[in-house]
Amino acid sequence: REIVYLDTVDSTNEEIKRRADRSREGLVVISEEQSVGKGRLGRNWTSRKGAGIYMSILLKPDIYPQDAPKITQVAAAAVVKGLKESGVDAKIKWPNDIILKEKKVAGILTEMTGELMRVEYITLGIGINVNNGIEDFPEEIANKASSLKLEEKKEFERKKIASAVLNNFEKLYSDFLERGSISVSIEICKANSILLGKEVRVISRKSEMLRKAVDINEDGELVVEDGDGNRESVFSGEVSI
Ligand code: BTN
Repeated sequence: REIVYLDTVDSTNEEIKRRADRSREGLVVISEEQSVGKGRLGRNWTSRKGAGIYMSILLKPDIYPQDAPKITQVAAAAVVKGLKESGVDAKIKWPNDIILKEKKVAGILTEMTGELMRVEYITLGIGINVNNGIEDFPEEIANKASSLKLEEKKEFERKKIASAVLNNFEKLYSDFLERGSISVSIEICKANSILLGKEVRVISRKSEMLRKAVDINEDGELVVEDGDGNRESVFSGEVSI
């Protein structure tokens, strides 16, 4: 696979987009730091030099735009598996938060480029807080975000974790392309989910509702149940415990 290592960049997701037209699927961009690291929902992502893993993968699957969330689940499964292989017992908070001891230590940002009916390419960004210290987490997020080092009280080798995650992603993604199903990834996501079986608040554009999280379906959506046993799937918005 082609891997581009950078010392610095605005955002590895943006670098993938600049290279997308002339690059093949599978291109990986890793940077030592990001000057404008992006999180979901317009948030920023702490990206201090040498502290975390900041990487993005270019994907060109032949899928419909509505299938893009599946890629996020494949990535979440790969990150959690890669972390486990590195001795870290991480969990997933659907759809894209990787949690260690109740704090977020990694996140996934899936961006789609294309027209309404056709996916041209997908930029899959993965950020893992590895050796970040408390100075990397400002007060407002210190109770929600952390790093592997802060939680496990030891330093980790970023290179090993990055390659474990990439290897797992490659396997799970090819499995998805071959079978046309993300069932293997979903099994991993379900087995490591912190939401399943719990009462969750589903917050959408306008409303907020309390539901029990009961499943993650084959489309990568969270299935929730109300008090009468009526089920529906949630595909966007924010979920909190
Ligand atoms: C989130 O949980 O909000 C998603 C965080 C994604 C961060 C990664 S770091 C590498 C890539 N480049 C970015 O600017 N963002 C993603």
